[in-house]
Amino acid sequence: MTEESTKIAKIWSLLNCRQDPGALDVGTARRQTPGGRKKRSGPPSFCLLFLAYPISSSTIYFLTPGSRKMLSCGVCTSNVQLSGKVAIVTGANTGIGKETAKDLARRGKCTCSQLTSADVSPLTVIVMVLPRLGIADWFPFRWFTGARVYLACRDMQKGELVASEIQATTGNSQVLVRKLDLADTKSIRAFAEGFLAEEKYLHILINNAGVMMCPYSKTADGFEMHFGVNHLGHFLLTHLLLEKLKESGPSRVVNVSSLAHHLGRIHFHNLHGEKFYSGGLAYCHSKLANILFTKELARRLKGSRVTTYSVHPGTVHSELIRHSTALKWLWQLFFFFIKTPQQGAQTSLYCAVTEGIEGLSGSHFSDCQLAWVSSQAGNETIARRLWDVSCDLLGLPMDCVSSSIMD
Ligand SMILES: NC(=O)c1ccc[n+]([C@@H]2O[C@H](COP(=O)([O-])OP(=O)(O)OC[C@H]3O[C@@H](n4cnc5c(N)ncnc54)[C@H](OP(=O)(O)O)[C@@H]3O)[C@@H](O)[C@H]2O)c1
Repeated sequence: MTEESTKIAKIWSLLNCRQDPGALDVGTARRQTPGGRKKRSGPPSFCLLFLAYPISSSTIYFLTPGSRKMLSCGVCTSNVQLSGKVAIVTGANTGIGKETAKDLARRGKCTCSQLTSADVSPLTVIVMVLPRLGIADWFPFRWFTGARVYLACRDMQKGELVASEIQATTGNSQVLVRKLDLADTKSIRAFAEGFLAEEKYLHILINNAGVMMCPYSKTADGFEMHFGVNHLGHFLLTHLLLEKLKESGPSRVVNVSSLAHHLGRIHFHNLHGEKFYSGGLAYCHSKLANILFTKELARRLKGSRVTTYSVHPGTVHSELIRHSTALKWLWQLFFFFIKTPQQGAQTSLYCAVTEGIEGLSGSHFSDCQLAWVSSQAGNETIARRLWDVSCDLLGLPMDCVSSSIMD
């Protein structure tokens, strides 16, 4: 046998779960059954499965409108324009955050994509030409572009690349990158300090960044990574920016949670996973914390002009599964039914811009509509206790939000 055919034989024998690849004759392979009977070898069953899967799922996808609707449902149809507004999106250098930032940047009073032939006038010509001349930042021209969007990223290089991409595709030059590492409270404080010094207003805060299924590790301040980044990091960031949000009202805070919160529990005696730890469950706990935070924040902000929402974006193709090989396989296998990041951004956008949902502050959304939460997530006692514990861990006064409303 040549070297190549030996290699093929080895691969084939591995696929057939054979112990002795050398004993294989590729052309007339026969498998020894446990009873000693020889049986003609066919393709192994899981090879058949691999063939059957794409065929059956593509058939379902193309023949059943229902399955396609499942993917495309939940579209933010609001055409609210954000000229002159200021937004922050955390974790905006990739995935859902990037698409969210792009859409916010695109929502100008008059961007090229929204122009119709009826709009053609000297004004629209100016609007279309100015960004290309690099003077779109000049007042009052900036009112024609979308929101000023801050991409809050831990990796500045990745952030800058994405900012240039968004600027090029939207024509909005006010897409700015600032360093924010949610795994370090010093970095969060530095980000907030810089932002507060730089900006007069904040209208939309999208707490989007997240980690999933990390091997056991801790943040710079000693918090378990999922709890620290997904919950405590955003909890602190929101607190530091809250006065600005209030001054800029009406304003909104959107917390990107997950359906996975249904498996979450807040184990107050094991918040940092020191007694027991599972990466998958730690993610679920942190996503439950996102919903509890949203509800408690809404309760405390009642009467202010700041509203808050939590969101399940759907199952989305992104880098979130980077720590799990099993999930990477599953995502490949079920790719037909997994949303693109742009589809995943729709519910965050819906909560950030749709008019008339202020009365639903504190609610949870999925596919751009109200969604059920677990009984734990609806438990006010747990929400209050988590609030107090989070303030304690971060060195914040427990009544900081309600007291400042009364001021
Ligand atoms: N994808 C899904 O199916 C799904 C489902 C439900 C909920 N979600 C939620 O959706 C949100 C966005 O996830 P995604 O799917 O877009 O995932 P992704 O592609 O992995 O994006 C996550 C973002 O968070 C950033 N990030 C991670 N750790 C950070 C830290 N310490 N400080 C600052 N930024 C940090 C990442 O930055 P780097 O690029 O530098 O790592 C990245 O920009 C997450 O909250 C996730 O829990 C996603």
